[in-house]
Amino acid sequence: MWRGRGEPGGSPINSSLLITGAGGQLGRALAAEFPEAKALSRADWDVSLPAPVGLARPEVVLHAAAWTDVDGAEDDPQAAAAVNVGGTANVAELGAPLVYFSTDYIFDGRKREPYLESDGPHPLSAYGRSKLHGEAAAGEGSWIVRSGWLFGPTGSNFVRTMLALGAERDEVAVVGDQRGSPTFVGHLASATRGVLRLPPGIWHVAADGDCTWAEFAEAIFESAGVECRVRRITTAELGRAASRPAFSVLRSERGAPVLPHWREGLHECLAQLA
Ligand SMILES: NC(=O)c1ccc[n+]([C@@H]2O[C@H](COP(=O)([O-])OP(=O)(O)OC[C@H]3O[C@@H](n4cnc5c(N)ncnc54)[C@H](OP(=O)(O)O)[C@@H]3O)[C@@H](O)[C@H]2O)c1
Repeated sequence: MWRGRGEPGGSPINSSLLITGAGGQLGRALAAEFPEAKALSRADWDVSLPAPVGLARPEVVLHAAAWTDVDGAEDDPQAAAAVNVGGTANVAELGAPLVYFSTDYIFDGRKREPYLESDGPHPLSAYGRSKLHGEAAAGEGSWIVRSGWLFGPTGSNFVRTMLALGAERDEVAVVGDQRGSPTFVGHLASATRGVLRLPPGIWHVAADGDCTWAEFAEAIFESAGVECRVRRITTAELGRAASRPAFSVLRSERGAPVLPHWREGLHECLAQLA
């Protein structure tokens, strides 16, 4: 179990934390949660390459850099793997344990009850396979934090896409047959502190509650006061390149930190956007 030097008492947790992918939506939230960390964006370190010369070995890496273009990975699975598997191996080469952020898309969605840490993975997409292999590349002493449907005030995510569409349309077509737990990156970043107090291994850390993308869109419009109807369509009608699990709600059977409900995350996200 790893303990930061500054704990307890709310003081900085550790000055030798390293964040990768610090320009991404989760990376930014982690950099805000751990201001004492060294935060590297892709411009500082393209993780598909070895670590920059002179980068000191940290005590822990919060590894948020990843290829996250789920449909794009179908066209170029090797490029996705170069980042999500090869990149993770390069980060592990630093010799420090990782917090590796993994995904609900490692599951096939056939279950109709929340996926637990002991459930067997079976990814449906190239992205899901690359993230699953990345879990192995993170190394044995690492924390594998699986979450899903991330959103936040920056970057490319469903909340920002819906707000942009809702501003210019009366109606949007949204998938109503996929169910998950939309997780606010700020909540996941805070929970990462709790994860670091737990033993290494797999931990499911996603928002409380669940919904379909269509229900999430309706909640976004209602909470933001946007007049826009949601027309439910099927996954088949949307016709995306990558298959996605129809059901990918995650829960912990091991006592992972419990996150607030996704509606609470949505309100915090909208407050930050306002
Ligand atoms: N988004 C979700 O719904 C979701 C769900 C479950 C798990 N996750 C996992 O959570 C983590 C964070 O995801 P996110 O939502 O924050 O994604 P994101 O906003 O796309 O951030 C990923 C970051 O990684 C960077 N990156 C890409 N290739 C890189 C490379 N070769 N070297 C260094 N940096 C690179 C990206 O830079 P550019 O912007 O310049 O490409 C981006 O800043 C990822 O591991 C992801 O798989 C995400």
